[in-house]
Amino acid sequence: MSMTRHELRQAQAAAVDAAQQAGDLMRRHWRSPKVIGQSTRHDIKLELDVRSQRLIGRTLARALPDVPVLGEEGDQAGGDHLRRWVVDPIDGTVNYAHGIPHACVSIALQAREPTGPTAAFRTRLGVVYDPFGGELWTAQAGGVARLNGKPIAVSTRPLAESMVSLGFGNSAGVIEYLVPAIGNLANRVRKIRLMGSAALALCYVATGRFDAFLEPGLRLWDIAAGGFIVEQAGGTFWRRQLQGYERHAVNAHNGRLGRALNPFLRPLIANDRSQAGTGRSAG
Ligand code: IPD
Ligand code: CA
Repeated sequence: MSMTRHELRQAQAAAVDAAQQAGDLMRRHWRSPKVIGQSTRHDIKLELDVRSQRLIGRTLARALPDVPVLGEEGDQAGGDHLRRWVVDPIDGTVNYAHGIPHACVSIALQAREPTGPTAAFRTRLGVVYDPFGGELWTAQAGGVARLNGKPIAVSTRPLAESMVSLGFGNSAGVIEYLVPAIGNLANRVRKIRLMGSAALALCYVATGRFDAFLEPGLRLWDIAAGGFIVEQAGGTFWRRQLQGYERHAVNAHNGRLGRALNPFLRPLIANDRSQAGTGRSAG
């Protein structure tokens, strides 16, 4: 269902408002001890994740009451909706729980396009807010990606000069096969980074800070807004949903590095599929 420019502008204003309110909440509690709601081997969920998603949900519902939220902290978007918000109330929760100011709020709006049996959700706008750096990324269909209102673009660096960001994800066992792949990759690029927020890594690719970002097992709310922002900044956002699994392998890059990076991602995808089969995800 296509959206008019006016609808997109209205929706973006609501998403920015919600992201900034949730970001203020994160900043206010940055240095306080955090209440942990749930924890697994490689992940933490905070009570503040839930509070933040509720705050975002209320703000979005005031602007577009009929659009449900699919979020890390709850999903009201089941059923036959034509639009949905995809929300990660805090991306980089483990950083944030440790008091490290590298975390953000991520909000995307998706619409089912085209209608009919082949209908699939496509992202129409993305907003990512880093409350610590005061950085707000936005993009909407038909427009360009922006950082604090100014147009941004991906880098033009080749592989040998590139900085490539990676994520381990939350699945048990990923580390065993990712570490040798990192060794290979590290010899071909200038620098590797693992910073702990997929949404910010994608926005850094869109801004030309990173040249690529690879991670084998991400959820939709980690990547919907940031991936769209990469595309609107002229980059490539490749993702594949792992069979029978709610996780996606992601390769986002400046448009020049796909061929060079694919060999590094292939074993990761293959291995993550076998992880999917074992149901060993902790995420
Ligand atoms: C996580 C972060 C992290 C990535 C994990 C995600 P969360 O999201 O994006 O960088 O490696 O796969 O689950 O739990 O902080 O919202
Ligand atoms: Ca996340």
